[in-house]
Order: sequence, then C-alpha cells, then structure tokens
Amino acid sequence: MMPASWTPDSWRDRPIRQVPAYPDPARLAAAEDKLRRYPPLVFAGEARRLKAGLAQVAEGRAFVLQGGDCAESFTDFTANIIRDTFRVLLQMAVVLTFGASVPVVKMGRMAGQFAKPRSSDAETIDGTTLPSYRGDIVNGPEFTAEARVPDPGRMETAYFQSAGTLNLLRAFATGGYADLHEVHRWNLGFIARSPMADRYRDLAHRIDETLGFMAACGMTSGTTPQIRETEFFTSHEALLLPYEQALTRVDSTSGEWYACSAHFLWIGDRTRQPDGAHVEFLRGVRNPIGLKVGPSTTADDLLRLVATLNPDDEPGRLTLISRMGADKVARLLPPLLRALRREGRRVVWLCDPMHGNTISTAARLKTRSFDAILAEVRGFFDAHAEEGTWAGGVHVEMTGRDVTECVGGAHRLTESDLARSYETFCDPRLNAEQSLELAFLVAEELKARRGPVVERQPAVAAQ
Ligand code: PEP
Ligand code: CO
Repeated sequence: MMPASWTPDSWRDRPIRQVPAYPDPARLAAAEDKLRRYPPLVFAGEARRLKAGLAQVAEGRAFVLQGGDCAESFTDFTANIIRDTFRVLLQMAVVLTFGASVPVVKMGRMAGQFAKPRSSDAETIDGTTLPSYRGDIVNGPEFTAEARVPDPGRMETAYFQSAGTLNLLRAFATGGYADLHEVHRWNLGFIARSPMADRYRDLAHRIDETLGFMAACGMTSGTTPQIRETEFFTSHEALLLPYEQALTRVDSTSGEWYACSAHFLWIGDRTRQPDGAHVEFLRGVRNPIGLKVGPSTTADDLLRLVATLNPDDEPGRLTLISRMGADKVARLLPPLLRALRREGRRVVWLCDPMHGNTISTAARLKTRSFDAILAEVRGFFDAHAEEGTWAGGVHVEMTGRDVTECVGGAHRLTESDLARSYETFCDPRLNAEQSLELAFLVAEELKARRGPVVERQPAVAAQ
C-alpha cells in the first residue's frame, strides 16, 4: 500500500484537502524557491531532544503542556504578546509539574501557527460570498475580496515572523526570564487575585516549601541551570505543505530529513486521511509529530495511521491529540486506547479539550465553556485510568492576554462579557486567568489520582 520511497514532494501525488486557490502558480513557485534558500528555523538536534522528552511521556515518566493561539496573526506581533503567552505557559507548567510529580515538556502553538483549516471554502455575509480566511500565512482576515485572495508572499512574512518569535522565546527561556522563583512569584500574584484563592493556597504553599528546601540543599538559580533556565519547543499544524516542504532539510549530522519550520508538527483532524497528502508528508520527516484524533476516528483508521506514521514504534515519535468533546470522550476514547494498547503501540496521548467544545452564542460569536473544557480533561483522565494507560498531557488554545472569548471560569465570564475583549482571529482562547485556573484544577486531579506522594520521585528536575 505504502510507496517504498518518500521525498519531500511525494505528497504532491496524493489527494489533498484544505488547499488555498493561489491565482498565480508561478508566484507560488517563486515564493517556495526563495524559502528553500533561507536558513532553517530549528535545528534537527533540538527536534531529537524534544522526541527524547516525549519518549519519556510515552513511558509515563513526564507530562506535556502544549498551548498558544488558535491562529497567530501578522498584526499581533509584539514582544508583549509573545512574553505574556510564554509566561502563562511557564506558570501553568510549574503547577502541573507539581501536580504530576514529573517533568513537564513545554511546547508553544507559537512561532509558526499561521495556517487554518476551514469547514467551508467560502464565507457569506449579508449576501456577499468570499473565500474563507485560511490564516495569515495564506490570506487576510478582513472581509474584502482583495484581502481574501491567497498571496504566496505571505509565506515569507510568516517565516520572518516565526524567526523573530522564536528568537525571543529562546532568549526568554535561557536568559533569566524563566527563573523558577519568578514563575512561582507570578503564580502567587494570580492566587491573590483569584476568587478560588483558598483552594489553590495549599499547592502554592507546598511549592514554596519545596523551593526553600532545594535552596537549603544548595540548589539555587546561581548553582542550578534547571532552576534558572527552561526548555521550550515550538509547534504548529503542518497544513500549508508548500511552506513546510520548502523548509524541509537533510540534517547533516544524521543524513535524515527534518521539517525545520518548528520542532513539532501535527496533522489536523480535517486532513488525516490515511492516503492523503498531509499524512504522506509527515510520515517522511524525522521530527516528533502529532495527529489530532476527533470523534469520527475509528480504531481501524487509527491503527492504520499509527502504522504509517510510526512504523518502527519509536517512542516519542507520535503524539495523539484527542479532541472528542466533553459529552463524547467517555464513550469514544476508551476503545481507541484499548486498540493501541492491544497492539503494543507506544504513543503519547494528549487531551485537546478545546476543539470538540466550540459553541455559537446568540450573537453568533464562537465560544467555549470553561466547564466543558474541564469536563473533557476529566473524561480524558478517567478514560486513561480505566484502560491503564498514561494521560500524557494537555493541548490548549490560550493567550496571556486578558481576553473574553471563553465563558465561565472563576471570574464567571458570561456571554454578555464576550464583546468586551474578543480578539481571536480564529477560535476562542482561554485568557491568562482561565489558563492558570485550568492548570490548578488539572494539578489537583493529577494529585488526587496519583496516590501517596512518598512513592513518587520528587519533581526537582524541572520547571
Ligand atoms: C486547531 O488545532 O486549531 C484545529 C483546527 O484543530 P483540529 O484539527 O483538531 O480541528
Ligand atoms: Co483552533
């Protein structure tokens, strides 16, 4: 069934979905040529390190936090926006590290998350029909005929914006901004503001004690790089294959192909056809990769996709991102976990509690309820507990800004609050407070399910 050989362009012979209608193929080819000559954005050795971290997750010894915008945009490209999202992800990671008592692998939906799959090719407003917005790497969000024409020149802008974002993320991760003591202090600030402060105080107090104990043992920012620095990886959906192909390179150390637009790439729920172009492209690169697993996935589909994407059953290579919906996860996820376990497949399982829980308000805004998001996470943990498999982490759409896009949470946002600060270019995101709240609640779940702390390794390894 599978062709013997893979090349960076073998996807071009496969059926493909979600393709932008570029009006001028020569301009597209010229843009691809240009990108092919530009330096890679990430180094293959980094992707291998991430894969090793994910292999630990596959074995139940680490947890994943993956989060960021639904869609990054060319207009929201500022240091503050990048910093705030990074900061909240670190805050969440500290809380989760403590809850899970294992290291947390951190990945941003950042520095390249620009291409969006759409359920319809066209959008109609007041009788006018235009091509859908497919993300800033393809066309513009404004509802004008001009903005909606796919423009290959946008790939170059996306490349340089990704480079700028990645540069700042690397600087923050290793330059002192990510110091564990700082991150913990920010969390104390969050707790002071939270209506659920009492509930979180115990966890924060125990983190305080642990940091104090570590300092007494000589482990401080000055002596221990793990306290001062962190590792942070980038990821996005590998949707726009001309862009991804142009940034795919042979790694000179291993002689193998790597997608060099980000450390981790995933296949979306709409483009996971086993014979399709997106599966073909990602099967051949050696990066750690992800696959969204939505409610229409059957066990047979999944086994076939897993065999294609990870034929050697390499741990850390494949992350399955379940996005069933709060009302379906208990019914649909366990049979999939069982099927993979029966075949002895080593994969990482993450919960994306966002994409199965999108609803429309009376004012026709897309939103998500915090309760549904939390319910799906709980359902995901329950399913893993039932099947004896490791619930490997969470994948969320969030921002460090004070937006009002998802309803609920401790500050009880309602539908009538949404108009106040609804800024997303695509799906509704958790704001900074809701994101942290989710992390505290997930940490509590983890702690409750984990049993006596004394039986576990302490979590000194890692923020
Ligand atoms: C996304 O992650 O933004 C997305 C479109 O998800 P999915 O493919 O799961 O629908
Ligand atoms: Co989304």
